[in-house]
Amino acid sequence: QISSLYLTAILNPNPNPNPNPNPNPNPIIPSFFPMPRFLNPFLLSLFFCVLGLGFGVDFGQAFKVPFRVNDVLPVLPRQVSWPVLNTLHSAVDLLPAFVGSVTPNNGSIDWKGSCFHGNEARLEFTNSDRDDSGLGGGVLHLTTSEAHSWTCMDLYVFATPYRITWDYYFSAREHTLKFDSWEEAAELEYVKEHGISVFLMPSGMLGTLLSLVDVLPLFSNTVWGQNANLAFLKTHMGASFEKRPKPWRTVVNPEDVHSGDFLAVSKIRGRWGGFETLEKWVTGAFAGHTAVCLKDDMGNLWVAESGHENEKVLIALFKLTCWVKGMLGLFSIRMVGGPEMLGEEIIVVIPWDEWWELSLKDNSNPQIALLPLHPDIRAKFNSTAAWEYARSMSGKPYGYHNMIFSWIDTVADNYPPPLDAHLVISVMSMWTRVQPAYAANMWNEALNKRLGTEDLDLYRILEETERRGITFDQLLTIPEQDEWVYSDGKSTTCVAFILEMYKEAGVFGPLSNSIQVTEFTIRDAYMLKIFENNQTNLPSWCNNGDGRLPFCQILGEYWMELPFYNSLEPYANMNENCPSLPPIYDRPTRC
Ligand SMILES: *[C@@H]1O[C@H](CO)[C@@H](O)[C@H](O)[C@H]1NC(C)=O
Ligand SMILES: *[C@@H]1O[C@H](CO)[C@@H](O)[C@H](O)[C@H]1NC(C)=O
Ligand SMILES: *[C@@H]1O[C@H](CO)[C@@H](O)[C@H](O)[C@H]1NC(C)=O
Repeated sequence: QISSLYLTAILNPNPNPNPNPNPNPNPIIPSFFPMPRFLNPFLLSLFFCVLGLGFGVDFGQAFKVPFRVNDVLPVLPRQVSWPVLNTLHSAVDLLPAFVGSVTPNNGSIDWKGSCFHGNEARLEFTNSDRDDSGLGGGVLHLTTSEAHSWTCMDLYVFATPYRITWDYYFSAREHTLKFDSWEEAAELEYVKEHGISVFLMPSGMLGTLLSLVDVLPLFSNTVWGQNANLAFLKTHMGASFEKRPKPWRTVVNPEDVHSGDFLAVSKIRGRWGGFETLEKWVTGAFAGHTAVCLKDDMGNLWVAESGHENEKVLIALFKLTCWVKGMLGLFSIRMVGGPEMLGEEIIVVIPWDEWWELSLKDNSNPQIALLPLHPDIRAKFNSTAAWEYARSMSGKPYGYHNMIFSWIDTVADNYPPPLDAHLVISVMSMWTRVQPAYAANMWNEALNKRLGTEDLDLYRILEETERRGITFDQLLTIPEQDEWVYSDGKSTTCVAFILEMYKEAGVFGPLSNSIQVTEFTIRDAYMLKIFENNQTNLPSWCNNGDGRLPFCQILGEYWMELPFYNSLEPYANMNENCPSLPPIYDRPTRC
């Protein structure tokens, strides 16, 4: 009796909740259902007193009401639900459970959920009404029955290599999940062949998933999508995005550009814009991609770039330029380009004109700044060594092995909510299921390197980690070593590639051996005090708003900002221990 009263109070703490907090196209949660953010802290603490008393006994049995601790986890804020989940389960139990693949031709699959013991799903192809591609879409029919209590719910993630979406069910009936249209022919083929993978999530994840909701519009390639990106960056990072006067593109005279000059690129629209926005938010960088200029002996200007998109390479999840943590926000985000594209050669050195042409055509509305090196640094820049390095890397795959590790330095301070190590591992384990070969490439190798083991899969890695008495978080924070060589060569993200080139060219002087470039984010790179600091020395065409910018902006309708640009002298072991938490991204000195 008492418990159910409490439960009512907890389930309905706020008489006037947000009218439409759930943008899910298939809202099955009635309006009285609280979103975690509306939980009244007082009720919550009261609830925990009761929970404390009931711990250790089967709460439901003791009070003879159908109620279990796990049942209420979904309505608790993530900060509360995750620790509770953690104390009740071991790390492996917290992984999403693969329940099966639903294919259109194979009838239905059925399984036992954690709340509903009878579940069935089947998939139907549909003709999409607002569809120019002619690919059509699909409807997943999911029937839930035999709930073990009236308060429980099941949380599912549905994945193809092209998209991940989720839904949650707490009533026993038939539910539908609509896929408006397949992303491309390859996705349709994939679904025909392999179906949609269904994962049962630990129910405490709901808070985490719901808080990812406001990242979704970021990926729309429309004015609306662009505005969503700008608004997100303004709110979460304090960016200002002031319009700048025309001309928005500068005519660059290659004679004034030198080897080693840094190109900072910020995309604000479409899929790339969305990923970059998440990456910026997570790393604190105000640019999402980087490239570097190189002059040859004949005086021709080239651009070297890791994560270059050539025409053949449709963007795979893995080719996300410098994105990094964006992957962790990928729930319900459509991904383009099959992973089969992986392994394309994507570190390139191309002529400046070609690079510039591609930038102008880029529909992600890039803003580009040129950051010239300081004359002293330029004087000691060994162009021969830089070229040697660039040539040796040219054609190598983009550094997806280490991209997620560059930002996980300290255990607790690197994940802005709602991300955390559990979500990292959830994504990893789902990806392992959907694309085993690429998952091995993406992180298993890197995790094995950290453990000093070889060829363990994700589950065996977890076992080994547990056996050694360290947590998965701690495993993730072991720093990447630049000399680690992966099965497909050394791994470099866009910024690691440039900094490694700087290292070879002597930019860091005697510090070279004590700098691990994979520990650097883009923000760390442009903060380095190696760039031109005398504005009168900037080229005459350099459009910097009469001294407003300490660098040259060569493309874009908004003024670029690079806070703390050119401010930090390099030092030994820099950035190996830096937290990065929005919105201030406070950086302890010499971390
Ligand atoms: C579909 O069913 C057939 C026969 O039952 C089975 O051999 C095949 O593997 C199934 N396909 C999928 C994708 O589950
Ligand atoms: C520049 O690098 C090349 C190749 O690594 C090396 O042979 C040469 O001695 C270096 N030049 C200077 C001035 O250090
Ligand atoms: C900047 O450069 C100009 C011209 O090269 C020089 O006259 C001036 O003294 C420099 N300013 C500073 C602060 O170094």
